Amino acid sequence: MQVVPRMLGEGKFIRPSVPALVLAPMDGITDAPMRDFQGSTGTFSYAVSEFLRVSMDPLPMKVFRREVPEVNSHSRTKSGLPVQVQILGGDPGRMAQSAFTACRAGATAIDINFGCPAPTVNRHDGGASLLREPCRIREIVRAVRDAVPADVPVSAKLRLGWDSIDAIYENATMAAEGGADWLTIHARTRVQGYTPPVYWKPIGVVREALNIPVVANGDIWSVDDFRQCQDETGCIHFMIGRSALADPSIPYLVSRELGISDQEPPMTNWVELFRQFLAFVDPDEYGVPQRIVMRLKQWLKIASNFGEFRQFDDVKHASTIEEFFIALEAATAVSNH
Ligand SMILES: Cc1cc2nc3c(=O)[nH]c(=O)nc-3n(C[C@H](O)[C@H](O)[C@H](O)COP(=O)(O)O)c2cc1C
Repeated sequence: MQVVPRMLGEGKFIRPSVPALVLAPMDGITDAPMRDFQGSTGTFSYAVSEFLRVSMDPLPMKVFRREVPEVNSHSRTKSGLPVQVQILGGDPGRMAQSAFTACRAGATAIDINFGCPAPTVNRHDGGASLLREPCRIREIVRAVRDAVPADVPVSAKLRLGWDSIDAIYENATMAAEGGADWLTIHARTRVQGYTPPVYWKPIGVVREALNIPVVANGDIWSVDDFRQCQDETGCIHFMIGRSALADPSIPYLVSRELGISDQEPPMTNWVELFRQFLAFVDPDEYGVPQRIVMRLKQWLKIASNFGEFRQFDDVKHASTIEEFFIALEAATAVSNH
């Protein structure tokens, strides 16, 4: 069924005919310093916050201000990247009230998570578990849409289904009927988790069937993947997550393909990259310095699991920032020879 699109407010997020590259929300990874850092590359159009779970009570304002501090400054990172607030939950009333509060706190766009595969989240009626109840997707999106100002876009992020990729057709229609301004679709089912393959083709079918923009997401690891995803979906809007960390040149290459930025990707020098990243980290935000080290190691783990970084074992025992950089410098100096 065709859904009549609303006029999108200022269009800082998704505009129907303007290509976009979105930084994926990744819980525990794309926090405020990471969003700020990624925003500074000029390759992304906007970022989505890590999910904020709405459980027994609507979320209070202080949660939005703490977890998505960008809401305090026009919902942009210091580097200027717009940030959309993502909420997750199964109760339309509490989701609506939370979205309303997010907007009062300063959010300028809301995303609803219908894709989280975490068992605890799913057992508590949130994330991907809603993919088994399409009517509830419509109800939740509608409640949130009705609760926030008309110029605040509301979007939904879905997986293809719980255990069937065909579930996306009904779920996407329901989200659109509920008033979603656009959909982001991760090209896998909940049962698949993060296991390949991805199924990009159904995203293209949804894009053609519905009259709202669709952001394609999942396993864009290279320019070739990007082109294939573009061919199979016909999309002009894309979201990337793990590859942006595994290979920091990817956002540059994809955004160049999309005509968003014409910058050459810098050579990846991990030591330099992490020193740059640290400039975006307010040590107070992380509490103890060990948490910063954990964050850097987590990033390198992604680079070693999904990218070309082969020296993770050399840095994994570092417990202070100094030790981390000494180990990384030694490891990368060896590999550069
Ligand atoms: C560690 C991790 C945390 C994630 N957290 C979220 C989240 O908070 N909200 C969400 O909608 N998706 C979350 N995702 C899913 C990603 O946004 C994205 O859909 C998925 O990683 C596929 O994209 P990619 O192949 O480009 O990484 C997470 C993924 C990972 C790996």
